[in-house]
Amino acid sequence: MTDVREKVSSFRRMDESTAEQWGVIGTESIEAWGLVPDRVLAMLRSLADIRVGFAVDQLTHSLQTATRAERAGADDEVIVASLCHDIAKSISEPNHPAVAAALIKPFVRDDVAWMIQVHQDFQGKHYFQHFGKDPDAREQHSGHPAYELAERFADEWDQTSFDPDYDTLPLEHFEPLVREILGTPRAFRTA
Ligand SMILES: [Fe+2]
Repeated sequence: MTDVREKVSSFRRMDESTAEQWGVIGTESIEAWGLVPDRVLAMLRSLADIRVGFAVDQLTHSLQTATRAERAGADDEVIVASLCHDIAKSISEPNHPAVAAALIKPFVRDDVAWMIQVHQDFQGKHYFQHFGKDPDAREQHSGHPAYELAERFADEWDQTSFDPDYDTLPLEHFEPLVREILGTPRAFRTA
């Protein structure tokens, strides 16, 4: 039997589209979700090229942050989020928290995505004074249900993870978890 995708040539402009064509696009789009873990892993690997004055490159920093989260007993979504919190520095440093949060949002709980979205506001306690910015920027989020989680992420795992001598776990250690968490959006998971 001929695959329906071979029989349906797609439109050249949306206002000429048909339901049958959108059916093919929907099927192929869902199949393409399977590419997400590999794309994310490739983006993470590219962070090894970015050191920009820190004692470790950004991949090592990301791995070290995730290692500390794992060793502190964080759950799987928090560990993957910790690994990915600076992933957008590979394409857009100035708004990297918002880009990273948007990337992981379909795959993690809302509190976990929020932790990444605001992480610079919390991290600022440890360095904003050097830029004339408010080190207490996190206080704008006071009362948020995930405030303590964001605080722990910044204070215990993120801001401490620039240590070249720390026993940092390799990317291969986290790869199965990346594939599990980022392989299927939460709304489509069966268990
Ligand atoms: Fe970071």
